[in-house]
Amino acid sequence: MANKIFVDACLGKETPYTPVWMMRQAGRYLPEYMKVRAEAGNFLNLCHDPKKACEVTLQPMDIVGVDAAILFSDILVIPDEMGMDLSFVKGEGPKFSDPITCEADIDRLIGGDEAASKLTYVFDTIKLIKQELAEDKALIGFTGAPWTLATYMIEGQGTKTYNICKKMMYSNPALLHKILAKVTEVIKLYMEKQIDAGIDVVQIFDSWAAAIEPSMYDEFSWKYMVEICDHLKAKYPNTPIIMFPKGIPTFLDKVYGNFDVFGVDWATPMELAKEKLGEKYVLQGNMEPCRLYSQEETTKSVDDIQKVMGTSRHIFNLGHGILPDVPVANAIHFVSECQRISKK
Ligand code: CP3
Repeated sequence: MANKIFVDACLGKETPYTPVWMMRQAGRYLPEYMKVRAEAGNFLNLCHDPKKACEVTLQPMDIVGVDAAILFSDILVIPDEMGMDLSFVKGEGPKFSDPITCEADIDRLIGGDEAASKLTYVFDTIKLIKQELAEDKALIGFTGAPWTLATYMIEGQGTKTYNICKKMMYSNPALLHKILAKVTEVIKLYMEKQIDAGIDVVQIFDSWAAAIEPSMYDEFSWKYMVEICDHLKAKYPNTPIIMFPKGIPTFLDKVYGNFDVFGVDWATPMELAKEKLGEKYVLQGNMEPCRLYSQEETTKSVDDIQKVMGTSRHIFNLGHGILPDVPVANAIHFVSECQRISKK
């Protein structure tokens, strides 16, 4: 069987060059994606259709040349299958019509294996991708962190202030913990099933980590993410796990847990991440995604990151998702520059 350079890099093994992928690499900057989404009718239909979801997962492999595919789905399919009513309103992002406000709302949610088992379209998508993906490329499966999922479940949509979740955090923390614990149980089983279906690597996105003040971050988010890692590592010790908590440079000193790769966001200097975490974890990241608007700035940034990280214990990525108006040629340039500059 061919070696997967991306999996090797996650495990800290030597690789011929530093592998690269991009968060949100399957998406609106690709005309080919827009075509398949239009055929599907809307974004959620696309997530529910294994054949089409497989097709858009594979698009960036051929078009952009990345070293790993990331499953095409969304973090919010979990609360959707727990019984909440998810929709994507054009131009406004995700919406739940029935946000959680009290204990009875949590009790009504479907939990555990019953919820995880409803995500069959995700597992079917994974199986299709694995049939088509080149043997030397890896497939990344993912979940949102319990906290990031809870922000949508409580606010009912994206938020700038997080005031409804934070009101709960400070005035009724037990209720927030009850939501987080219920979501954590579903995630553990959901990720087990993703691994059983064939994913090679797990990434946990805590996109809204920075909303929590540093002294409370462990209690309301990180410890639940670590609980998921412990659960998965007990059963699947060889499946690498990537943690991506966005925007928490002040927490770097306190990072702990049984995982393999720490995803560095664009606002955290790579030097700092390397100093604090580079010995214990492989680091992933962290070009500022807007550098992609300029090929010259992209090359400069890739070169700078490579100088800090050298050619081992690193995976190239953006420091957050690629934006829809980035020219495809510039994404291709980023990927080929990472592979060229890090070649041994
Ligand atoms: O290529 C990939 O990275 C895989 C697919 C993927 C999507 N969402 C597809 C998507 C992944 C890994 C996600 C994760 C996700 N979803 C996160 C965490 C990652 C991050 O960026 O921090 C979050 C917070 C969400 C929730 C979500 N989904 C929002 C806020 C939105 C609307 C914002 C937007 O970009 O439009 C989505 C929709 C979404 N998820 C799209 C895609 C391709 C856009 C839908 C479309 O119009 O086609």
